[in-house]
Amino acid sequence: MSKILLVIGSARPGRVADKVLGYIQNDFINRENIEATVVDLAELNLPFFNNENSPISPEYVITDPQVAAWSELVKATDSVLFITPEYNHSLSAIQKNALDSLGADWAGKPVTAVAYGWSGGSLAVANLREVLGNLKTDTKQTIAQLGFMKDLNPDGTILDAESVKAQIAATINEIV
Ligand SMILES: Cc1cc2nc3c(=O)[nH]c(=O)nc-3n(C[C@H](O)[C@H](O)[C@H](O)COP(=O)(O)O)c2cc1C
Repeated sequence: MSKILLVIGSARPGRVADKVLGYIQNDFINRENIEATVVDLAELNLPFFNNENSPISPEYVITDPQVAAWSELVKATDSVLFITPEYNHSLSAIQKNALDSLGADWAGKPVTAVAYGWSGGSLAVANLREVLGNLKTDTKQTIAQLGFMKDLNPDGTILDAESVKAQIAATINEIV
């Protein structure tokens, strides 16, 4: 059984992220032995990072119950897949904060993403790879980049079903 966390990196009402989550869950229908858990960062409600120590410091002790819950989720999973919108050529603040909030839990953890935006979220992906590199995750090579007016409409409905399906399958293939 492969345990995967699907982490929603948008907090907007009406977010495209929910549709992208559905496309990822559709992929799982054709696979066996996958246990996927959805983490909605809007619901998890992590504080903006406020610990006196850096998460990579040996002195880092998690005191906040929401951060402790997030840490347990990441520790218990085999891999993490971020649903990653592009905001101002970067990650959403809520996703960056979730990454910043943990240290040792990330080391060696298989991590990938499905990104989306006007250029397929390419700048968010570039930024994500830098952040994950610093956190020493096992970042996978393939990250789906779903482009508006190419793969998806801007409301998240599908324009090119074959491309969406193939990109998501290629991304998931590397973590299961
Ligand atoms: C604050 C903000 C900044 C954005 N910046 C970008 C951007 O730099 N590049 C891009 O392709 N789309 C950008 N967008 C458009 C988003 O890709 C689009 O709104 C998408 O639906 C966001 O994902 P979500 O609906 O799941 O939150 C931005 C949207 C917001 C709200």
